[in-house]
Amino acid sequence: MKSESQAPGKIILSGEYAVVFGYPGIAVPSPQYLRVTFEKLTNREDILIDWPQISEDALWQTYAQRIISLCEQKSEKSTGILSIHSDIPLGKGMGSSTALVIAICRCLLGQECEIDARAIEDSVNPGNSGIDFAVIWKDKPLRFQKGIAPDPTQLRTDFLKCGSLIDTGKANESTPDLVAWVNERSKESQIEEALREIGECTNRLLAGEDPLAVFRDHHRCQVALGVVPSEVQTLIAGIEARGGAAKVLGAGGRTGGGGMVLALEPSE
Ligand code: MEV
Repeated sequence: MKSESQAPGKIILSGEYAVVFGYPGIAVPSPQYLRVTFEKLTNREDILIDWPQISEDALWQTYAQRIISLCEQKSEKSTGILSIHSDIPLGKGMGSSTALVIAICRCLLGQECEIDARAIEDSVNPGNSGIDFAVIWKDKPLRFQKGIAPDPTQLRTDFLKCGSLIDTGKANESTPDLVAWVNERSKESQIEEALREIGECTNRLLAGEDPLAVFRDHHRCQVALGVVPSEVQTLIAGIEARGGAAKVLGAGGRTGGGGMVLALEPSE
């Protein structure tokens, strides 16, 4: 017997880190999906993970195994082969880790597993705000704010048609570590101000302000938080010098790459 499921990635247009502290954010699902197929086999003793894309990467293997173990605590044990394929870039700020939680849970626990999947997300991605889970679960553009039901946003996203994604490489730090690091410094006035302004960027986008202007300010706030590596700052300075704007998607990084950057061309 085979079951199949899928989940998109996410693109945060505004709100990184600020959403952890209760400010609003906006996220849209990515056009790329992660797909999982589970073939139940009674002649096996465990679940074999078949994920050729990550054959070299023990961290992803361990991460997928942990999600499976947590699913097994919530349902009867199954055995078989779990095949995974992701078109979402892995570990680059586009929600691949949450998409994996949701797609595996849907496959092993059934399509109505939202509460269990959310609990598993909280175990494997501690400190998360819930924005990634909300947009990836619903597969719809959302205004997200902690403690309020996510609101499907009417935001016009046609400006994204002239946007592009630039891969700046993986950060050396994990998202939970970066969130914890921002949390430790969240009472410093510069950090407090950056978080507040990022929340304001969300309101400005929703009010219809030019995304180029909002993205430039949003990027400066992410720099102030310390999550945009210097080479990525140089890349974005070049884009701005040509009249465009860009921002890191997701948690960014302190060293190494900053994950995916979303760049917008000048509207003319
Ligand atoms: C990660 O995609 C977005 C962060 O704001 C963390 C979170 O909200 O869970 C950095």
